[in-house]
Amino acid sequence: MGGKKHRKMEPYYRLAKKMGYRARSAFKLKQLNDRYALLRRGNIVLDLGAAPGGWLQVAGEIVGERGFVLGVDIQPIEELPLPQLRTIIGDILDPSTTTLISEKLPRKADVILSDASPKITGVWDVDHARSIELAEAAIAIADRVLAPNGRMLVKVFQGRTFEEFLRKFKRRFLFTKISKPHASRKGSAEVYVIGIGHRT
Ligand SMILES: C[S@@+](CC[C@H](N)C(=O)[O-])C[C@H]1O[C@@H](n2cnc3c(N)ncnc32)[C@H](O)[C@@H]1O
Repeated sequence: MGGKKHRKMEPYYRLAKKMGYRARSAFKLKQLNDRYALLRRGNIVLDLGAAPGGWLQVAGEIVGERGFVLGVDIQPIEELPLPQLRTIIGDILDPSTTTLISEKLPRKADVILSDASPKITGVWDVDHARSIELAEAAIAIADRVLAPNGRMLVKVFQGRTFEEFLRKFKRRFLFTKISKPHASRKGSAEVYVIGIGHRT
């Protein structure tokens, strides 16, 4: 999709600016949350691939001051003003990041979000494979730090091994849904996979 000029014409880009969100992707989380009630007041939330922080802002507003949201990214995230938001720099493909995450969480997470994306090469198979690698890393983290009965939302670029990923994901949850929110660009390969009722 087009360059800077095109982005600025885009309604969600303008709305994000107007509402003070750092990324237009904030609206994807809002729309998915309206549909699936993933985030609730007082929840402990882990957000993987969280920079620049649009989802952190949305999650922080919903969980409120009695909740807690930990954002993880390989890139630093500029500080956010809500006290319930914390961030760490970490590579979710590196297993030692899971140890760091569990040290920072006050208890197991009620919700894990992952909007992590690889750097796009434009080669469908490569981008798909890297996206699946990140989504599988998110599952491995959930195996360690998602509470029983917890909820999960993971972005995946569709492709050859999507069904295989889905089978792994489904084994871990009572209910699984696949969704493409309105704020997700029509031509993009991304879909969001939602898991409700984490089995442990
Ligand atoms: C689409 S952005 C996330 C946008 C975010 N949800 C928001 O609303 O601001 C994807 C992020 O995934 C991060 N990412 C990619 N690979 C990662 C990895 N191995 N570990 C942690 N973060 C990663 C990127 O640095 C990037 O910031």
